[in-house]
Amino acid sequence: MLPFGREALPHWPLDPDVTYLNHGTVGVTPVRVLEAGRKIRDEIERRPAQFLLRELSAIAVGLPRAEAPRMRIAAARVATFLGAREPDLVFVENATTGVNAVLRSMDFRPGDEILVTDLAYGAIAKSAAHAAARSGATVRTAETPPADKGGGAIVDAIVGAIGPRTRLAIVDHVASESALVLPLREIAARIRAKGVAVLGDGAHAPGMLPLEIASLGVDWYTGNLHKWAWSPRSAAILWAAPERQAGLHPPVISWGLGEGLATEFDWVGTRNPAAFLAAPAGIDWMEAWGVDAVRAHNHALAWEAAVTLPRRWGTERPVDESMVGSMVTLPLPMHLGSASGDAARLRDALLFEDRIEVQIHPWRGRLWVRISTQVYNDSADLERLGAAVARRA
Ligand SMILES: Cc1ncc(COP(=O)(O)O)c(C=O)c1O
Repeated sequence: MLPFGREALPHWPLDPDVTYLNHGTVGVTPVRVLEAGRKIRDEIERRPAQFLLRELSAIAVGLPRAEAPRMRIAAARVATFLGAREPDLVFVENATTGVNAVLRSMDFRPGDEILVTDLAYGAIAKSAAHAAARSGATVRTAETPPADKGGGAIVDAIVGAIGPRTRLAIVDHVASESALVLPLREIAARIRAKGVAVLGDGAHAPGMLPLEIASLGVDWYTGNLHKWAWSPRSAAILWAAPERQAGLHPPVISWGLGEGLATEFDWVGTRNPAAFLAAPAGIDWMEAWGVDAVRAHNHALAWEAAVTLPRRWGTERPVDESMVGSMVTLPLPMHLGSASGDAARLRDALLFEDRIEVQIHPWRGRLWVRISTQVYNDSADLERLGAAVARRA
């Protein structure tokens, strides 16, 4: 039986003097998986040309090999974990790259619309704006109601923002700052019923949520493995429905152009593929720990934060448990401020004075804290955050 809470911390490379409640931001790789990645790097460096130009992808020198390319073997393991078929899934460095691949592959016309929501990650909204501006298209931003109005109201707001010229909707599976888990399957079904393509942004979903990508009913789906699937940075996936694969290109064009999805994405120039190839080790390690037990621990702790901290701070609990995964976003006491400068100050004070690393941001006239909970966290971490905020409130 592997440990949970403080006892699990030695399995992670984190500084034990810092209370790390920020797993979702850039992910943390377990010690064992870092080691697996190092071994792969060593193997590459022993015979780099053979590894990268004969074994890695279908872009190869020499006579054809009987073995599948290493990128495909790794993709198959990840695909099984995520409920997808191997040929439909490729590696990209991160979710931003996955979204950009889809945006750059679409042929927008003047007057077309790309729908994003006001919950979208800033870099994704910017990517959509860039793609739109290059072709005379526009971005429409769906305004979502507060989370305490319930998931149904959020779904209605997103679907209701589809217009006659909407070509693509980018919909979060787990939203970034708000940490809300959205019913992507239902949203995708209603949007696609209007003839609009859906790109699921699952930056936080692999590992956090049980996933069956192929049955979500989206056209494309991207998700990071380096946040919640215990994989090294930078490892993420892009999935495309079979009928969406023709014409889908990586943002960087290389030798595989026109050779099919996997061949195009598996080789985009010389790079270090160790993180992709070590992703299966991350999934193996999470499975050894117990995927269900990991999710249950992380969710229970996030929900414990949602129940206990607002009570302590005299604030409201803004969210229903059904929209909480392994992160929760809570409002902070009003007098801690409302501007991005206030957020930066508080974030720095918590890190440099209290040694607590947590995400803080302004949103709709006040500050919010997004608390990530992973196997190495326990109630004492929440207690420390609760006390540090209460002392300043
Ligand atoms: C919803 C969402 N989309 C996209 C991203 C971008 O992820 P990355 O920086 O790994 O590309 C994030 C990052 O946190 C996110 O929360």
